[in-house]
Amino acid sequence: MLSVRNFSTGFRRAGENLVAVDAISFDVEQGETFVIIGESGSGKSLTGMSIAGLQPSSAFVSGSIRFKDREMLKQPDAELRKLRGTEIGLIYQDPLSSLNPVWPVGDQIAETLTAHGLANRAEARKRAVEMLERVRIPDPHRVASAYPHEISGGMRQRAMIAMALAAGPSLLIADEPTTALDVTIKAQMLELLAELKREMALTIILITHDMGVVAEVADRILVLYAGRIAEIGPADAIMLQPSHPYTAALMTSAMISQTPAKQELNAIVGGAPGLGSFPPGCRFHPRCPRAQDDCRTIEPPRRKFGAVELACHHPIGDSMPAGVART
Ligand SMILES: Nc1ncnc2c1ncn2[C@@H]1O[C@H](COP(=O)(O)OP(=O)(O)OP(=O)(O)O)[C@@H](O)[C@H]1O
Ligand code: SF4
Ligand SMILES: [Mg+2]
Repeated sequence: MLSVRNFSTGFRRAGENLVAVDAISFDVEQGETFVIIGESGSGKSLTGMSIAGLQPSSAFVSGSIRFKDREMLKQPDAELRKLRGTEIGLIYQDPLSSLNPVWPVGDQIAETLTAHGLANRAEARKRAVEMLERVRIPDPHRVASAYPHEISGGMRQRAMIAMALAAGPSLLIADEPTTALDVTIKAQMLELLAELKREMALTIILITHDMGVVAEVADRILVLYAGRIAEIGPADAIMLQPSHPYTAALMTSAMISQTPAKQELNAIVGGAPGLGSFPPGCRFHPRCPRAQDDCRTIEPPRRKFGAVELACHHPIGDSMPAGVART
């Protein structure tokens, strides 16, 4: 369904190109839930938004993003808008920023259909109520007439999902859809997404830093670190037996954070490098407990390792030089 090849994006600052996402390649298969994880600033949103043709206007892009045989990086704006309305649904992190506060919820959902000529006003309005029902909103007629501030956070999130799916897209890109939600509502949201995925034959790209969410829904996982792919592969292999030291650190950090008394340990030593200050060699080497001399100078190439592909000179499970502690 989606084929990303050597995709890079970044920004020009003080006459210099600062690369935020650096020559990444991956495929997303029809029907799967493909999850992108990584620390803040690793390039998750830029990747997700670029797939939908929504990269910031100040960004440069190169490489290729093919969605159903269309090159997304070369589509005219009008075509991208049409694709976003019909083929690609988007859920943003903050429901309030994508729902217009001065417009009833139902009208906003209906607009996604009328704007692309998919329905007349009356049909679109009817369809909006049906969509609200479909996302399990108990009183869809009332909510359709309500303004966003008149409904709860959980309802707003459901309304956003209704909006993203109203035109029947085949691909749903959800950027941190559960971040602002409490545990119960988050669980309901994941259940709803799983049901809608089945009912509507969706392919989902989910961006999150919540490992609980990842464990719940992922078929395959892409781990980004400082704009590069650290590891990519089946969810089970990556969650249960991570091979890349960065993935292992992410998993350990997630486990520790579930133990409140040890929450202060919930951080991987050091911070992720910012744009323009990526270290040479492996970008993770200043923080990596397995780093060797080669890691400091030679960027690890991507290669197959068991069930996954990763970019690491000394993955976990590989023999280590003497004297190096296993992570
Ligand atoms: N419009 C922009 N102008 C300049 N730099 C940007 C812009 N958007 C993103 N960046 C930078 O690009 C890098 C990647 O950003 P991105 O939003 O993709 O990160 P992310 O992985 O989604 O992080 P988070 O988990 O915080 O959402 C960051 O260093 C960010 O500061
Ligand atoms: S290449 Fe070296 S520094 Fe990078 S993750 Fe692997 S072992 Fe660590
Ligand atoms: Mg983001």
